[in-house]
Amino acid sequence: MAEGYPPEQRDAVYRVIAERRDVRRGFRPDPVPADVLGRVLAAAHQAPSVGFSQPWDFIVITDRARRERIAALARRHRDEFAADLPGGRASAFDQLKIESILDTPVNLVVSCDRTRGGRHTLGRATQPRTADFSSVLAVANLWLAARAEGLGVGWVSFFDERELAAELGLPPHLEVIAYLCVGYVTDFAPEPELATAGWARRRPLAWAVHAEEFGRRGLPGEEPVDPLADVLAAIAPPDAEAMAAARERQDRMTKPRGSLGALEEVSVRLAGLAGACPPPLPEPACAAVFAADHGVHAQGVSPWPQEVTAQMVANFLAGGAVVNAFAAQAGAEVTVVDVGVAADLEPVPGLLPRKIARGTADFTAGPAMTRDQATAALVTGLEVARDLVAAGNRCLITGDMGIANTTASAALICAFTGADPADATGRGTGIDAATYARKIDVVCRGLSRHEPDPADPLGVLAAFGGLEHAALAGFILGAAALRVPVILDGVIAGAAALAAVALAPDALGACFAGHRGAEPGHAVTLDYLGLRPLVDLGLRLGEGTGAVLALPLVQSAARALRDVATFDSAGVADKL
Ligand SMILES: Cc1cc2nc3c(=O)[nH]c(=O)nc-3n(C[C@H](O)[C@H](O)[C@H](O)COP(=O)(O)O)c2cc1C
Repeated sequence: MAEGYPPEQRDAVYRVIAERRDVRRGFRPDPVPADVLGRVLAAAHQAPSVGFSQPWDFIVITDRARRERIAALARRHRDEFAADLPGGRASAFDQLKIESILDTPVNLVVSCDRTRGGRHTLGRATQPRTADFSSVLAVANLWLAARAEGLGVGWVSFFDERELAAELGLPPHLEVIAYLCVGYVTDFAPEPELATAGWARRRPLAWAVHAEEFGRRGLPGEEPVDPLADVLAAIAPPDAEAMAAARERQDRMTKPRGSLGALEEVSVRLAGLAGACPPPLPEPACAAVFAADHGVHAQGVSPWPQEVTAQMVANFLAGGAVVNAFAAQAGAEVTVVDVGVAADLEPVPGLLPRKIARGTADFTAGPAMTRDQATAALVTGLEVARDLVAAGNRCLITGDMGIANTTASAALICAFTGADPADATGRGTGIDAATYARKIDVVCRGLSRHEPDPADPLGVLAAFGGLEHAALAGFILGAAALRVPVILDGVIAGAAALAAVALAPDALGACFAGHRGAEPGHAVTLDYLGLRPLVDLGLRLGEGTGAVLALPLVQSAARALRDVATFDSAGVADKL
């Protein structure tokens, strides 16, 4: 058996991997000697390549005038990107440096020739992208060798590829793979700048390793973890010490005690959730609109055709819905998750395609979904929460879209709280008396058919739930496990929160009721959970609108705890 490297050499390999950084600041003007640059390029040239095609070329750029033209191209795309960001992200992006084209003595371009080696290049015929992958591996080698030489490398991708290719005189059959800024640096940061700046977080390795099949997450030598069980185990009660500190600070802030009303309790709960006083600002924020269709629509419980679900998804993605307008005002991002729309949706940016089924079954005829489908939707929701938090969000907002989902919500609320269907069922988008009576009857029939057991939350979700309810429950659990606040919208989110809290009672600590919707079942839910709504405007739209409206209130509560002076610090006399 071939031997591995001696320990100190092996450590050096792992060290260079761990200490390689994308560098954008602190470049020194010192030139890079030709022999050093030669070694680094030789390392790049030893990369593996599909069919040994070696599809890369390296263009070494030092000319100032050329770099200035290239920097102008990057600046234009940076500005376009910045203009498209929601407010909560835009201020963070402003602080980020995304290129060092003029700060570095050498810029390197790694290109790819997808035609090199002719038609029968081994492996490339079946997967044309393997040519690009090969050039990326050359970049990786280069990046590691540069780190070992003490050279910083920063990758810039804010380009229109053909525009850049024209500036470099690339023939049409060559593609730009990477634009790299290279130079000596004052130091290498221990962590990615984007992590230090709070833009994104490193995902734990355990989220990325699967045993045998996708979804069976587990590190080598460990049993695969059930993601739902994993999240449930991670949910813990609020931190009593941080809550006490927040209460105490509220009392010392330069204002009469209690004068911030319900916002004082919001700040205390945020501190308890974060385990810190003051808690981090709940910004940036992202609303996830979970969309799905409902078999119970066939019972005539809504005046709207089922196709409206898919049509509204398109509207959210085009930025034309109320939630988009409110989110733009509040500086939040909107992302749409298809967990069960009964139509094929075009892949567009902002849509997470996570369809589990094309809608549920009619719960008056049988369970709306199988237990496996309910579990899959829960896991989908918690993974969306994880991804949005890893992407740097500090506050999650629930949204939903699904024609007939107030009927499913009413059934869920009755099952979890024991409420009477006549008290928990509302008029949804607006229905006449006959339809309303039918809707109550549908909920009653569902309840008597399934005889739900609230101690079996998965069974209740499977019996009545929409796929969006189950996914929203998972989203809430995911937020609670990561100790990130989740602002709940109306009755659909409320029904989902009942399921989440039934699965993990401490998940309630992460939940903030954005508003009280007009559906009677929502009031029942908020009372049952003991959550005080922040906004009460008679909204009955869903989409996440009420929760987005409450975002500035939650953020203000945290900011007050952080920024407001205390009597002692400001030298203001306290009440006698
Ligand atoms: C394909 C690719 C494109 C990138 N483009 C940019 C970019 O345009 N601007 C930038 O500042 N960083 C860019 N980066 C750097 C990443 O932000 C960086 O690798 C990531 O935050 C992890 O940090 P680390 O490389 O220091 O570990 C890019 C990285 C890769 C792999």
